[in-house]
Amino acid sequence: MVDIHCHILYGVDDGAASADISKQMLSDAAEQGITDLIVTPHYRRGMFAYDRIAVNAAFDSLYDAAKERGVRIYPGCEYHVDDEMVGNLRSGRCPTLACGDYVLAEFGHAVTFIQIRNSLDTLLLAGYIPVIAHAERCETFAKDVSLLQECRNMGAKIQINADSILGRDGSGVKKTARQILKQNLADIVASDCHNMDSRKNHMEQCRDLVAKEYGWDRAWELFTTNPLMIVASSHL
Ligand SMILES: [Fe+2]
Repeated sequence: MVDIHCHILYGVDDGAASADISKQMLSDAAEQGITDLIVTPHYRRGMFAYDRIAVNAAFDSLYDAAKERGVRIYPGCEYHVDDEMVGNLRSGRCPTLACGDYVLAEFGHAVTFIQIRNSLDTLLLAGYIPVIAHAERCETFAKDVSLLQECRNMGAKIQINADSILGRDGSGVKKTARQILKQNLADIVASDCHNMDSRKNHMEQCRDLVAKEYGWDRAWELFTTNPLMIVASSHL
């Protein structure tokens, strides 16, 4: 499997709190059959700074530990959408996913569909492919999941969280995530794991559930081939 959304880098956001926890998370990912991980610390203006020096230092210090476990790690960022996004991506202030064509875009819970569409347009016109992070957590999509198809028609990809499908993020989010799956509106499932306890990586458990309910072809697409396309777009 390929996980394109996780917070395993220590000390840079609300994810892993120490190098030791990062290493435990890498072992856990390897044991689940994850071979490629894009690490995506938060960038959110006024809240998470995405300090490039600290991010790069944590990344470099974990690179060998990941390799020893049979996991390739790539840089990335979960970008909380704002009006400086394109400038921040172009300048390298925040990286795209695996430094390729895709941007993991996080929207606020209460953002309107017009705002979402405008932001997607901005990214697409600048040459990026937006991946909507945990779309099931946006109220706009929860009210009408068919709007996700409009986003896909524009060229965006839809990511949903393993924990949402498994019901670990509340019953409302679970219901939306299941609706998205049922209507085949998701492109990628990722872990969005933050630690080794309350927000652990549950990709394997979720993949088995999706395979049981929708077949192995769907599971393969959502957990492996579609996220692999993102890694394959890497310019590294
Ligand atoms: Fe996240």
